[in-house]
Amino acid sequence: MSKPRILVTRKIFPEVIARLSQHFDVEANQDDVLWSDAELIERLRDKDGALTTGTQAINAALLAACAKLRIVSNMTVGYNNFDVAAMTAAGVLGTNTPDVLTETTADFGFALLMATARRVTESEHYLRAGKWTRWSYDMFAGAEVHGSTLGILGMGRIGQGIAKRGAHGFGMKVIYHNRSRLTPELEAECKASYVSRDELLAEADHLVLVLPYTPESHHAIGSAEIARMKPTATLINIARGGIVDDAALAEALMDRRIAGAGLDVFEGEPKVQPGLLQVPNVVLTPHIASATVKTRLKMAHLAADNLIAYLEGREPITPVNP
Ligand code: DGY
Repeated sequence: MSKPRILVTRKIFPEVIARLSQHFDVEANQDDVLWSDAELIERLRDKDGALTTGTQAINAALLAACAKLRIVSNMTVGYNNFDVAAMTAAGVLGTNTPDVLTETTADFGFALLMATARRVTESEHYLRAGKWTRWSYDMFAGAEVHGSTLGILGMGRIGQGIAKRGAHGFGMKVIYHNRSRLTPELEAECKASYVSRDELLAEADHLVLVLPYTPESHHAIGSAEIARMKPTATLINIARGGIVDDAALAEALMDRRIAGAGLDVFEGEPKVQPGLLQVPNVVLTPHIASATVKTRLKMAHLAADNLIAYLEGREPITPVNP
């Protein structure tokens, strides 16, 4: 019997490709070419499954053209590239890679918070430019992290990881807002208090965004929300571009309406809103929150596990539309 055929849409670890090849007839994009939607469809037409990296839109048009397709396995926890309703209607399973990246991503969220609050990159640029001639009492004086108020919008696994780091590691007061409130046990574990969105915006010294990107969360943070924040506050986005109105944020940073921002994700990435590149009080990183070697390998293996299980007739491990 011939093996199921799968497409791996971007370059990933060779050992994971080797593992997949024991089960499937694999077409792998190890040259990491950025295919257009039409090129992706062309390659996917005769495939039973795909392993994607979250940047390829799996929508009704693609599904209509790829009638053989049974599963799309994202090597990401976020799956806003999936049109879940269209996939379900077409009988195509979607899977993602939750849990394996939680702690690593929470680590990075905290790194970005610290770098932003303490102006790490801004001061490094100053030093590298040869501008450092003397010590000065207010040179790159930033915002306090320990003992300050940490606000978290979106309190899933990663949000909880950030809350624990803040509360237990840095003695921060943690407040959060989420679609649903955590159980009392989880709130106690995270030392986090539930507040309204308005309270969150008004009270956070450092506001971290960890919510999924959906039509409802598009531009959840724009100029009106920024106006409600403290002028000394920082905003950290490790969730998805599009949740923040980047143009409004760039203007607010320019006018010092908030003290700073740390952004790992951007609306329309890898393009970055030009205004953000002009302002000094923002730390910018290229969507690397889950990027440690160990974690990315775990994500790739979990994405492979889902394909192998499902195409061999077993239950997928982490389905998003079971
Ligand atoms: C995820 O897994 O969703 C991360 O953002 C990496 O894309």
